[in-house]
Amino acid sequence: MPKPERHVLVCLNLRPSENPKGSCAAKGSEGLFDALKAMVKDRGLGGRVIVNRTNCLKHCSRGITVAVYPDNVWYGGVRPEDLEEIFQTHLREGRAVERLLMPDIPWE
Ligand code: FES
Repeated sequence: MPKPERHVLVCLNLRPSENPKGSCAAKGSEGLFDALKAMVKDRGLGGRVIVNRTNCLKHCSRGITVAVYPDNVWYGGVRPEDLEEIFQTHLREGRAVERLLMPDIPWE
């Protein structure tokens, strides 16, 4: 595989349910990660885009958190139904999905 054009990080951090910070895994990020990874592979971007699981990306209250590099674009509150738009608009066409951008909030 050549050096990827884009690197997508999906937070899979899990905290106990009683933790007030919450966590992306508790919001379903494992399934979201699996779906995005399969989408990238099945639709022919596997040689250009790499999708990795990460621990906490420090925007827990706005999760599920997804970051795309080298664009330094951060998405918050990502749901499975948002993946199609992220795939098509950002990963295929190179434009950030404005409606999903993480607000400019302090890192948690
Ligand atoms: S738990 Fe996902 S950003 Fe912190």
